[in-house]
Amino acid sequence: MQTELIASAHQVPPVLVPQADDPRPLRNAFGRFATGVTIVTTQTPNGPLGITANSFSSVSLDPPLVMWGIGRHSSRFAAFAECEHFAVHVLALEQHDLCWRFARSGQDFSGVDLAYSDEGAPLLPGALARFECRTANRFTGGDHEMLLGRVLRMTSREGEPMVFSAGRYRLFAPDA
Ligand SMILES: Cc1cc2nc3c(=O)[nH]c(=O)nc-3n(C[C@H](O)[C@H](O)[C@H](O)COP(=O)(O)O)c2cc1C
Repeated sequence: MQTELIASAHQVPPVLVPQADDPRPLRNAFGRFATGVTIVTTQTPNGPLGITANSFSSVSLDPPLVMWGIGRHSSRFAAFAECEHFAVHVLALEQHDLCWRFARSGQDFSGVDLAYSDEGAPLLPGALARFECRTANRFTGGDHEMLLGRVLRMTSREGEPMVFSAGRYRLFAPDA
């Protein structure tokens, strides 16, 4: 196992140019960037809506800003691209079931003890960190719409994060 790891680290990968008709190599390369996983929620006329998103990034301390992107091909695009308020939940390791649930469907809050922010954004319990945001800016980034959120309130607690890399969920090695 150790020998295989060393061998693959020394193989020189081919240099590729992104191809519009075959996004898989680009998707694979993007997927090498390990991320945490979030669920972003917003309120809609049809009720609360959620989506699993790993495009989340912290942006600025002063003013307090975060960012994430919603894909144009998502059935949830219009609701999130136009929302005025949203909440970002940074998932803990033990919340991996929510990750897959909100990747599949945006409206399945069954068994979830929902609360609401003062602005009406749905709040999920159990997150490692949570950011209640007002949409501060939006800009188009290719096939995604990027949302910049002004952080109005946050929570944060100790715990192990959910980590996503190369298309699957991984265990974090805390002392590596
Ligand atoms: C780990 C993970 C991260 C994801 N990150 C994003 C993201 O940042 N932005 C996004 O639009 N979709 C993201 N998705 C996909 C959405 O969760 C969802 O599956 C997609 O929008 C399709 O939804 P639809 O079936 O309602 O069209 C992610 C999915 C997974 C499993």
